[in-house]
Amino acid sequence: MRNEIIIEDVKHIVADKLRNEATGHDWWHTLRVYNTSMDIAEAEGNGNRLIIGLVALLHDVADHKFGYTDADREAIITDILRPFELSDSVIDQVIYIVNNMSFKQGKNKHVLETIEGRIVQDADRLDAIGAIGIARAFAYGGHKDRPLYVPEHSDDPDSDTIGHFHEKLLLLKDGMHTEAGKQKALARHERMEQFLKDFHSEWDGH
Ligand code: ADP
Ligand code: NI
Repeated sequence: MRNEIIIEDVKHIVADKLRNEATGHDWWHTLRVYNTSMDIAEAEGNGNRLIIGLVALLHDVADHKFGYTDADREAIITDILRPFELSDSVIDQVIYIVNNMSFKQGKNKHVLETIEGRIVQDADRLDAIGAIGIARAFAYGGHKDRPLYVPEHSDDPDSDTIGHFHEKLLLLKDGMHTEAGKQKALARHERMEQFLKDFHSEWDGH
């Protein structure tokens, strides 16, 4: 089967699974990660596009945050990919990268070795910063019943959503692997800094 057809079919399967997801891991997040990954691969002139595409599309179908284990994720991804008669090596590479690319609340210290993994990890992180990243952070905080901001607790990462910017989002630009990822991250980082300035200047209503 041609790679373009495999990618189109997997897009439909994942769109059906994630369409109504409301915590910021929805289908549109996945599609953006796919598109950004392809742009980075193009700019870098590197990476196997089939593996990059499959990892991008499948990276959130069974996220650890929703209680899935690595073994669950392996089973779900294998089930999705089985009909396409891909080589075991392609399926193994996709599962390996998906299992090792997630931030996992900072517990994941694994540094991805391959360019395919690094490209999709950059794209996933880019979608956590900038204007979209701001929207996703507050959507996620609302899902967790967290307040926007608790001034006296903003050093506790789980207390409020503004805390999450300091705990994670403002650090992401320095963790980019690729040159193209670094470039894209700079503008998005500035948007978050501007947003935080504006947020704090409006905070007390004066
Ligand atoms: P990964 O997909 O790498 O595991 P996460 O699932 O932690 O990353 O994050 C996915 C999205 O949810 C990101 O946009 C992130 O900013 C947001 N998010 C995760 N944890 C929090 C939090 N404590 N407060 C606000 N947003 C969060
Ligand atoms: Ni993601």
